[in-house]
Amino acid sequence: MKLIVAAVILTLASISAGQEDPEARLLVSKNVLNNYLVEGKDLTVEYKIFNVGGGAALDVHLKDSSFPTADFEVVHGNLEVMWERISPGANMTHAAILRPTKFGYFNFTSAEVVYYGKEDKKEQKFGYSSAPGEGGIVNRKDFDRRFSPHVLDWLVFAVMTLPSLGIPCLLWYSSSRRFTSHVKKQN
Ligand SMILES: *[C@@H]1O[C@H](CO)[C@@H](O)[C@H](O)[C@H]1NC(C)=O
Ligand SMILES: *[C@@H]1O[C@H](CO)[C@@H](O)[C@H](O)[C@H]1NC(C)=O
Repeated sequence: MKLIVAAVILTLASISAGQEDPEARLLVSKNVLNNYLVEGKDLTVEYKIFNVGGGAALDVHLKDSSFPTADFEVVHGNLEVMWERISPGANMTHAAILRPTKFGYFNFTSAEVVYYGKEDKKEQKFGYSSAPGEGGIVNRKDFDRRFSPHVLDWLVFAVMTLPSLGIPCLLWYSSSRRFTSHVKKQN
């Protein structure tokens, strides 16, 4: 009984505290935007931060240390970003372009976020982003072998269809000219 009362008081206290001093709460998603992950080819990682709390988040640090420098090189953007303030209800997006230097399976894990949830900046909050999970990075040679012939096939197809589209056009053009010249002669 005493415990229940204590719990009720605690909840009431936390509700009133929440009302007095709204706190930020950040949800972070991390996504790899490419359909194919290929050794040596750019891949885009996108981070989205959504403040679902009642207050602004301050000094927000997003850091992704899940890409070992032995396996990835950063082509564009940063794996560490800072926002001074993210208002309640606001979204922030960040992207980085990386190039895998090796092929094989890679487990894409979470980025970390650190921020102050209240204006007084007394207590830092920690969080993790969602994790894209395991992905296969295709060997560059395999990829080229599998996809380049198709590109060639399409080119050959396009070149071969050009005459079949072009010849009827030419025929029509010349016959229509012949016809109009006939008409002119009769006049
Ligand atoms: C932020 O993103 C969330 C989830 O995608 C969406 O529900 C919300 O409307 C967005 N807010 C703004 C201000 O764009
Ligand atoms: C990937 O990493 C996460 C987080 O470290 C772990 O929970 C998960 O089991 C890993 N998945 C595989 C297939 O290794």
